[in-house]
Amino acid sequence: MNRFGLVIAFCSIVMFAAGYLHAETKSPEGKQIFDKNCSYCHSMTPPAKSAPPILGIALHYHEAFTEKEKGVKHMVKFMKKPDEKDSKLEAKAVSRFGLMPASALSEAELKTAAEWLWDSYDPAFRSPGSCGK
Ligand code: HEC
Repeated sequence: MNRFGLVIAFCSIVMFAAGYLHAETKSPEGKQIFDKNCSYCHSMTPPAKSAPPILGIALHYHEAFTEKEKGVKHMVKFMKKPDEKDSKLEAKAVSRFGLMPASALSEAELKTAAEWLWDSYDPAFRSPGSCGK
């Protein structure tokens, strides 16, 4: 391999590593999935569209779970097959908005979106019982 080839090889390794590291940190990927697939029903903050705002959901999930891994797992399971008895929101959220339709996204995409949703938690956001009214 000549010197030029070496430089190319080195650059590819660096770029690959950078891409890998990027995926490990909080990436904008979850937000992109949200913008494309969730935001037409879920707003980030009140007023609500046709579903509870994300900050309200994040609040309820942080109340229900102490570990991110468990909260994320529950969200992914819920989004694949929503069931009223698995809901971590207040009962009136489901009666006000109806049950979320099952998502057609892949398990990996749902996990990325759920992790992003979990990380969107803002302790300063409080709307107990109002569901974003
Ligand atoms: C067609 C409208 C719609 C879309 C699209 C949608 N949702 Fe929902 N979602 C709802 C409604 C309505 C609820 C409230 C009732 C419920 O919990 O099922 C809800 C509830 C939730 C909940 C709380 C589940 C619980 O414990 O009750 C999570 C988490 C959630 N959505 C995440 C998402 C994510 C992430 C996406 C995108 C991948 C998404 N939703 C797309 C309508 C939608």
